[in-house]
Amino acid sequence: MKQVSSLLSERGQTHILQGFDDLAPDAQNAFIEEIENIDWDTVALWKHPEDLSGKGRVEPIEGLSLGEIQKRREEYFALGADAIQKGKVACVLLAGGQGTRLGSDAPKGMYDIGLTHPLYIFEMQIKNLLEVCREVGAAVPLFIMTSDKNDAISREFLKKHDYFGYPEDYVRFFRQEMAPSVDFAGKLLLEARGKLALSPNGNGGWYSSLKRAGVDRDFPNIEWYNVYGVDNVLQKSADPVFVGAVIASGMMSGAKVVRKAEPHEKVGVLCLEDRKPSVIEYYELTEEMANLRGSDGNLSYCFGVILNYLLSARKLEEVARERIPVHVVKKKIAHIDENGAFVKPETENGYKFETLILDMVRLMGTCLPFEVEREREFAPIKNKEGVDSVETARVLLQKNGVTL
Ligand code: UTP
Repeated sequence: MKQVSSLLSERGQTHILQGFDDLAPDAQNAFIEEIENIDWDTVALWKHPEDLSGKGRVEPIEGLSLGEIQKRREEYFALGADAIQKGKVACVLLAGGQGTRLGSDAPKGMYDIGLTHPLYIFEMQIKNLLEVCREVGAAVPLFIMTSDKNDAISREFLKKHDYFGYPEDYVRFFRQEMAPSVDFAGKLLLEARGKLALSPNGNGGWYSSLKRAGVDRDFPNIEWYNVYGVDNVLQKSADPVFVGAVIASGMMSGAKVVRKAEPHEKVGVLCLEDRKPSVIEYYELTEEMANLRGSDGNLSYCFGVILNYLLSARKLEEVARERIPVHVVKKKIAHIDENGAFVKPETENGYKFETLILDMVRLMGTCLPFEVEREREFAPIKNKEGVDSVETARVLLQKNGVTL
């Protein structure tokens, strides 16, 4: 204990020991273990949140346009369907986030977007995947990433709903790791006395968490992981045409992208950075880059990512040990105040530390941008109202013939 106290004192974090002596011995031990597991290098990043690794030389990337895909659709479909039938493709549904912007305490996948009947986000995801399974006549292993915060409730919910018709044998859950969070002065936040306010560590750690859990062991043929977010209810996962196109390209990864509607649209853009694929945020594009157009008149930096990636299992294994940047993200973090009262803030009050899957694209070495129709494949639910909200997603679902 003495060691822990002096460690915290060196780091200016002794406030978290408030009330420690009143804890039961088991709780004290568990808390000491939590403290010993803190990655202090990561916590120290709060001081320079915007200071990620400097950008290299950024250039536009060539991708497959809708027209080009249409021309080779059958060939790609056949290649992709064959890979799926041979068990080479697995889906990874990223559902470990907290969905703080949506403001629901339940996992985002459990959010009901129906109007006249229940229609859950998880249900839409599975419905879309089942369509592919029927089309190609094979089931796809479905790995669902949860976090400590929502694992039990997500499992229970999906089981209760009989996995919305998905074969249970093909479903596996795995948990991502957690990271501490701090207030704007870099002080560690507590969720309760003797308990750090831990949050999921971002979606960039999915591969190491999946491997640690070993959920892939029952599916020895996997060559490709299709990784996607839970919140796009028009998500087409394990899309055979996408899989086929990436295989045909010989690249190590592919990203579904939508063409940017206007130069300043707030989406991450796929490009080349020092000749490697990279996703840069909209605010990192200079004015000149945002407006740059090719000889065909189209925007040069036009491919907005929609969090649907296909990644080579072999390449992932090769680069597994490489580190990806930690992003310091402002969030609303529930915590106890100095009097021990629980606070659920209305506005952002601190930083979480996250790694992001978009940073993995660089490690893959090559990436095929694969254009999809925004109106048919991109309806993210991030917010309760306004942009990328339940309302906007409902409109898009209805346009695509889904009865709500
Ligand atoms: P977001 O970046 O939208 O984060 O996640 P979020 O936590 O869901 O929502 P906010 O920002 O708090 O409102 C994009 C995708 O990545 C998953 C989410 O579940 C979503 O599918 N994700 C995010 C994880 O699986 N783990 C994380 O730690 C963060």
